[in-house]
Amino acid sequence: MYIQQLQVEHFRNLASQSVALSPQINLITGDNGAGKTALLEALYFLGRQRSFRTAKPKDIIQQGTDYFRVIAKTADPTHQIGLERRLQSDRKLSFLLRIDRQTQKTPAYLAKIVPTIAITARSFQLIDDGPMHRRRFMDYGSFHFDDQFLMQWQTYEQALKRRNAGLKQNMARGVIDSFTPILAQAGEQIHALRVAYFAAFKPLLEKHLLALNFPYEVTIRYASGWNTDSSLSETLAKHFEMDCRLSHTRYGPHRADIRFSVEGGNADNRLSRGQQKTLILALYLAQIDLIGTYGETPPLLIFDDIAAELDANRRNLVLTYLLQLNCQMFFSATEAALFDGGIQQQAALIHLKNGVICAD
Ligand SMILES: Nc1ncnc2c1ncn2[C@@H]1O[C@H](COP(=O)(O)OP(=O)(O)O)[C@@H](O)[C@H]1O
Ligand SMILES: [Mg+2]
Repeated sequence: MYIQQLQVEHFRNLASQSVALSPQINLITGDNGAGKTALLEALYFLGRQRSFRTAKPKDIIQQGTDYFRVIAKTADPTHQIGLERRLQSDRKLSFLLRIDRQTQKTPAYLAKIVPTIAITARSFQLIDDGPMHRRRFMDYGSFHFDDQFLMQWQTYEQALKRRNAGLKQNMARGVIDSFTPILAQAGEQIHALRVAYFAAFKPLLEKHLLALNFPYEVTIRYASGWNTDSSLSETLAKHFEMDCRLSHTRYGPHRADIRFSVEGGNADNRLSRGQQKTLILALYLAQIDLIGTYGETPPLLIFDDIAAELDANRRNLVLTYLLQLNCQMFFSATEAALFDGGIQQQAALIHLKNGVICAD
């Protein structure tokens, strides 16, 4: 699958316009503020139904308007996809997704058919920030790795919400315990799926670290969110009193993490920014490999401001690797000259001026 044509309406500073895309490399150039990141964000929104730079989709709506829309034509297979977020009178945003002229209630199908991976300045959160970002990363991989993942996760989340509400409202233990079997069963399943994903992921990460000449030894470990010497059901029972005091469920797969250590120390204070970038890149390349192998279709790859993220040497190493994967790729840079001549020749050049795609 690849995106043949992308149309945006009221998306940040971008003029409402349509652009033809290459199935392989697309180079988006333009001065600062031209709208390069916005265009990449629109592509990401299509695949992930959220932004990589804001948690508030309202921010994306062009000033002075009340909605934004992203429409794509895909090939191989052919689909017509339209996504809209519109500000309603109650200031909430409506969500409208249409695929092949049918309204879709949930975006899960879209997420499956348009796997999307972005490497941006925000990707540092994987190392710098709390476990949420790493869990999200792992779960995105697991979602494409195994079809069971989404259903188990939805079951778990719903049961967890109920249990936490019960804890908060001081419900009787019998009532709260009635949520436990479903919670524990889905939780164990999620854990098993993540373990399987992680077992496939780890050797690929190691391969990429080696290929990128990463100078240190990295240990990476999946932390399940509870001590798996006991079942989740036993753990929930054992910590019931504590959960009552905390008014939420302390242990379970919602607390999972991926922990790195570099030569025995923390990755965030041990590594230079450049080395962190390399580690992040290796993490994503491993995920790209897995989604390419197990997912519905090879992922769309988005690299925002690639020159800031990678030196010329690593840029070429990575590009050479990516080119043989058969993924559709989008790079942004202030100028095309940041890419070597061969790549420029193969790429579709998309030049932006003040939010408008120009012919030159
Ligand atoms: N909701 C919005 N409405 C209108 N303009 C916006 C909105 N959000 C951001 N912008 C503007 O869009 C421009 C494009 O930013 P960006 O995509 O980051 O450019 P680039 O990546 O090319 O440097 C910026 O000038 C920014 O102020
Ligand atoms: Mg930018």
